[in-house]
Amino acid sequence: MAKPTYYLTTPLYYTSGRLHIGHAYTSVIADAIARYKRLRGYDVCLLTGTDEHGQKIQRTAEAAGKQPQEFVDGLVATIKDLWQLLDVEYDVFIRTTAEHHERAVQGIFEKLYKQGDIYKSEYQGWYCEPCESFFTERQLKDGKCPDCGREVQWLKEESYFFKLSKYQDRLLKYIEEHPEFIQPVSRRNEMINTFIKPGLEDLCVSRTTFDWGVKVPFDPKHVVYVWLDALSNYITALGYGSDDDSAFRRYWPADVHLMGKEIVRFHAIIWPIILMALDLPLPKQVFGHGWLLFDDDKMSKSKGNVVDPVPLVARYGSDALRYYLLREIAFGADGNFTPELFITRLNADLANDLGNLLSRTVAMIEKYFAGQIPAPGEATDFDASLLELAYTTKDQVEQAMDNLRPQVALEAIWQLVKRANKYIDETMPWVLAKEEAKRGQLATVLYNLADVLRLTAILLQPFMPRTPQRIWEQLGLVASQEAQWEQAVPGRLAAGQQVKKGEAIFPRLDLKAELAAWEEEGQKEEAKPLTPPLAEEVDIDYFSKVDLRVVNVLAAERVPKADRLLKLQVALGPERRTIVAGIAQHYEPEELVGKQVVIVANLKPAKIRGIESQGMVLAASDEKGLAVLTPQRPVEAGSKAK
Ligand code: MSP
Repeated sequence: MAKPTYYLTTPLYYTSGRLHIGHAYTSVIADAIARYKRLRGYDVCLLTGTDEHGQKIQRTAEAAGKQPQEFVDGLVATIKDLWQLLDVEYDVFIRTTAEHHERAVQGIFEKLYKQGDIYKSEYQGWYCEPCESFFTERQLKDGKCPDCGREVQWLKEESYFFKLSKYQDRLLKYIEEHPEFIQPVSRRNEMINTFIKPGLEDLCVSRTTFDWGVKVPFDPKHVVYVWLDALSNYITALGYGSDDDSAFRRYWPADVHLMGKEIVRFHAIIWPIILMALDLPLPKQVFGHGWLLFDDDKMSKSKGNVVDPVPLVARYGSDALRYYLLREIAFGADGNFTPELFITRLNADLANDLGNLLSRTVAMIEKYFAGQIPAPGEATDFDASLLELAYTTKDQVEQAMDNLRPQVALEAIWQLVKRANKYIDETMPWVLAKEEAKRGQLATVLYNLADVLRLTAILLQPFMPRTPQRIWEQLGLVASQEAQWEQAVPGRLAAGQQVKKGEAIFPRLDLKAELAAWEEEGQKEEAKPLTPPLAEEVDIDYFSKVDLRVVNVLAAERVPKADRLLKLQVALGPERRTIVAGIAQHYEPEELVGKQVVIVANLKPAKIRGIESQGMVLAASDEKGLAVLTPQRPVEAGSKAK
């Protein structure tokens, strides 16, 4: 009989920078679920990949002095290395710059255009560049991006639009009839009440102000909106729209699209509508997990609190990091990461509970049975309750994993591990060993402990791919014969195996020493600030076209509703000018009044928040923030700088 299929996806990762442990969280959960399903006999397709187009990536590449393709190629390599390091075993890796993907996206765009679901019009609205999202006035939060809280810009351009509004009722009906479609329930309610019920507006799906994207085939000055491009990956990765769509026919519809909560909106509204318009079945579930916070704060590059997974894996191993991510965070809710929590968790669960159980068991089998796992003898008063739990643990893990709750699954496994440690305290094998008459009981205890460790290792495979092997080795078992999921019930251990005491699988860590090492690692990072790469060479004539002047700041005030902006009145000789500068997060208005600063005086005036800015203040920035440039001694206002 053919295996049932299971198609699970992670989102595509942006290729604008290195990934942190928050990103790793999505992939590690997906990998644990995929491994679990493979063990349960499914034909699993785990899809991941990279989101490589868009204005932000184009700009970041420019700032790094690279062509966008060269820039993303470098990052994709680091992302693949990271998944290898974390044992994330994907089946398909898709890049949105892959030719077959781009062609399929063009096909989708053209089809939707031809059938009238995409039409040409003009876009006016608020755009958040980091999120690559458009918002209406109503959707803004305090005038800023409702997703990331950053400034938005007003854009007006000729664009293509996708008729989301046409499908609104159909989508709502679908969501209402399929309660499992958006999970957890809190996200489902949010989608219905915050987004769908107030009314969907047609979505702007092309851009003309940059060109790093998939070109609209029949109007190539437009590039396809990055989310339409990226979402399509879930089917183009399977060959949809290509000559060979056998994988698409095999795996679609997806069983689960997994992602962080901030992007559920795209997957639960825009994506299903695209599929409806393409007349394709919808994914069975869209699951939005919570965020991994650092010290209760969202991890983000701009806050400088991102944790790099690479040194963590180098120091503690990938299984330890995977365990932390899967265990610490109740699925759906936010979780926290701090070095203290991390080390404490590793010590308590891995070194004490699991590591000690193994080393104590193996040591006692060596001591009392010359290293040979004994066949069970007479019963003790404590066997039944241990074995009862051991019988039900597999079911509990299955139930948790079928509901995408790795944390609950690990809790169930640790209940058993703790129970087994307690069994040692209850039965006191060192006391039994003193009486020859209790030898049968001693054998039972050690057999049961070894058996529980054997089956625990089977259950741990989805979460910690390396540790089970190490447990079996110490028990003298051969991994290839032990891995089967169905064997994760008590009594299947063949006695007579020769145990082999090895190193502690998770040595106990000294919290203080680890925190000190952590600090040192952080300082190393600070010690090597990245110097931004140089821009293209220009000649002196080119440079002299830029008119730099020293001006006196006469007055300064904050621009209402714009956190970053100050409005300055400056004197350029006798002339008075207004300049809007993005320095409000670094200077109080009064700090600047009376100072001299340098401005670009012949910059074309621009309207910023309705104020005409007649020049630009020069400032340098580094990791500590921003500093305006000022002459080393006061000079006449209006003096030229060159
Ligand atoms: N490129 C889009 C997705 C397009 S899918 C068609 C994107 N990329 S991302 O790189 O920003 O995010 C990738 C995944 O990492 C998402 O699931 C996101 O929620 C997750 N995380 C990023 N930071 C996170 C935390 N701090 N905590 C948990 N997950 C977070 O969005």
